[in-house]
Amino acid sequence: MRKLDVFDTTLRDGEQSAGVNLHGSEKLEIAIQLERFGVDIMEAGFPASSPGDFKAIQEIANRVKDCSVAGLARATKSDIDAAWEALRHAAQPRLHIFIATSPIHMEHKLRKSPDEVVETAVECVRYAASRFPVVQWSAEDATRSDWDFLVRIITQVIDAGAKVINLPDTVGYTTPSEYVRLFEYIRANVPNLGDVKLSAHCHDDLGLAVANSLAAIQTGVEQIEGTINGIGERAGNAALEELLVALAIRKDVYGRSTRIQLAETALTSKLVAKLTGMAVPANKAVVGNNAFAHESGIHQDGVLKNALTYEIIRPEMVGLNSNRMVLGKHSGRHAFKEKCEELNLQLGEQQFNRLFAAFKALTETKKEITDDDILALVLESSIED
Ligand code: KIV
Ligand code: ZN
Repeated sequence: MRKLDVFDTTLRDGEQSAGVNLHGSEKLEIAIQLERFGVDIMEAGFPASSPGDFKAIQEIANRVKDCSVAGLARATKSDIDAAWEALRHAAQPRLHIFIATSPIHMEHKLRKSPDEVVETAVECVRYAASRFPVVQWSAEDATRSDWDFLVRIITQVIDAGAKVINLPDTVGYTTPSEYVRLFEYIRANVPNLGDVKLSAHCHDDLGLAVANSLAAIQTGVEQIEGTINGIGERAGNAALEELLVALAIRKDVYGRSTRIQLAETALTSKLVAKLTGMAVPANKAVVGNNAFAHESGIHQDGVLKNALTYEIIRPEMVGLNSNRMVLGKHSGRHAFKEKCEELNLQLGEQQFNRLFAAFKALTETKKEITDDDILALVLESSIED
């Protein structure tokens, strides 16, 4: 199976989530967990953005040895110098340098002509490649850029020393089939791609970040980017845990291997949620509290007979002990009986029927019935007896 590099940007794009501000020690704690999770590259931050981020990146670079540590830089020599200072002691330092390539960004944000953008990009990549062993270049807003302009600038930054070319869907605008065509166009028209790796980086403004990333993987990109829990600018980035589980479950479709230790998923997600203060929605795929919870009688009956009836992901795969049977108004006798056995209740048939009726009555007024609720019902019924 072909290897896919996993580039985690929780500590850079993820930290750009509104309201998130991680201290150096918190960034280091997440970095150590990401290393354990098995990412190939972690983007530790944006060294030129603040002295605090610079120091945090430096500490991560000194400590993390089992994966590449990257830092972000705009296309300026001072950003590249700051990144080199922060990352020079990393085991595998990488510079991630970007410049916008879409007409709207070039004209209104950069106020540069396309020729000037090419010149700046080439000059900075050449300068960066004289220091960093690996330079990754990103065409910001690639999905709203002219494809022939992308071919021209990519060809030149590769000549200047870029080893990884990333085509971000910066504003979450593209669709799976359009993103596929973009990568195919670049592969077919950039003459000097050689060993250069192509990378996909998606945002979730239209809720398509994971779908777009998976489509890019099917075109054969060598690297995928995302964040834990999908945190990031605006609606966030592609959720790495969703991508990685999809790759593991649907090997028949994607046929790609990674170094990821999926059993570390739940822990990694919880740590990121705790330290960023961004709670994971209950219905979030893979890591939400309800992702392995079954409430309706039909589903509970099926899962109790064979979990595969309603679970395509086994909870153990992502580091959880078990699924959860939630007792609520849709639950049936099978799940209720299991719960009584789990609580060690010795009930005759009539007692069980009465308890089940009392449980059903309680669900009229209470959404989720806890163990304590059931024990209280048992106590009430024995007093009545
Ligand atoms: O979304 C984006 O374009 C980015 C770049 C800095 C690569 O995060
Ligand atoms: Zn981004």
